[in-house]
Amino acid sequence: MKKRLFTGLQPSGQLHLGNYFGALKPFADTYQEYESFLMVADYHSLTSLKNPTELRANVVEVVRAYLALGVEPSKAVIFKQSDVQEHTELAWIFETLVTVPFLMQAHAYKDKVAKGIEPTAGLFNYPMLMAADILLYDTDVVPVGGDQRQHVEYAREAANKFNLSFGQTFTEPTEKILENVAIVPGVDGQKMSKSYKNTIPLFGFKEEITAAVMSIVTDSSGERPENVYAIHKLFKSETELASLYENNRGNYKVLKEALAEDIEAFVAPKRNKRESISVEDVKRVLAEGREKAHTIAASKMADVRQKIGVSL
Ligand code: ADP
Ligand code: TRP
Repeated sequence: MKKRLFTGLQPSGQLHLGNYFGALKPFADTYQEYESFLMVADYHSLTSLKNPTELRANVVEVVRAYLALGVEPSKAVIFKQSDVQEHTELAWIFETLVTVPFLMQAHAYKDKVAKGIEPTAGLFNYPMLMAADILLYDTDVVPVGGDQRQHVEYAREAANKFNLSFGQTFTEPTEKILENVAIVPGVDGQKMSKSYKNTIPLFGFKEEITAAVMSIVTDSSGERPENVYAIHKLFKSETELASLYENNRGNYKVLKEALAEDIEAFVAPKRNKRESISVEDVKRVLAEGREKAHTIAASKMADVRQKIGVSL
């Protein structure tokens, strides 16, 4: 029996190379070793995004990206959070079990509030919706970046509290922290992130890729433009790059052009595949995923309702 893997991601904008190496590729490389669930966390993203046109476009974009990278809908359950109402229902039940001081300790919440983001009740309760996502499916493994580790701990706490109050119901999940995954630097040398506006788009056209690469910040004092090299290493081995960088010492323009070409060669087939996937294809995949996810979630919730006493 394969272990069950569950991951979620927020549909929050144009995907970039950081998302590819940090989240999409690790999933695409390993999902077949597990019984895998891939959920688009549209209700989570409502804590930051209040634009229906953008939300719709982002959901389509994220599913398209996974399909373009070769994730097969017959081998993973790909669905959207809002399509399975048991998620918000179970989140409410967990909210009645955990305390305000416990949720107050969440780093992600504190960081966001420190950045000036409005502390809505939704942002505060975010970890309990995520706990519901994970626990509805008797998940064994949750692959996430280090920033989400605490949220998986919170899911364990929710499972534990429920089990203690109402009897064994939920499996305690384990996080799989993607520590060996490199942090991809952006064009300014900081972590690539849409909030820093330093990204290279994953499905960008050649001109966009070239423009982004040409804008990579270079320090004229060194012989090797480190920011260019750091990104180049993701596409070619250090041995392959050695002679290129040796023969073009100080010639940043040539090195950037070589990098832009290597990224274009890497992106082009993925971009073409992505373009062949229509909105209808995405809707079909999500409808199929909804059926499979809902069957499991509904059966779990029937048990929960019985145990807490709302089923008469
Ligand atoms: P952004 O920082 O652009 O807002 P998200 O926080 O939405 O990106 O990240 C979505 C996924 O992509 C997460 O799993 C995150 O760990 C991964 N990711 C984002 N940026 C990078 C990066 N620069 N390097 C590696 N992984 C990244
Ligand atoms: N909170 C996660 C993030 O921002 C996304 C997410 C929602 C998730 N539900 C999940 C991740 C369940 C793993 C499991 O990255």
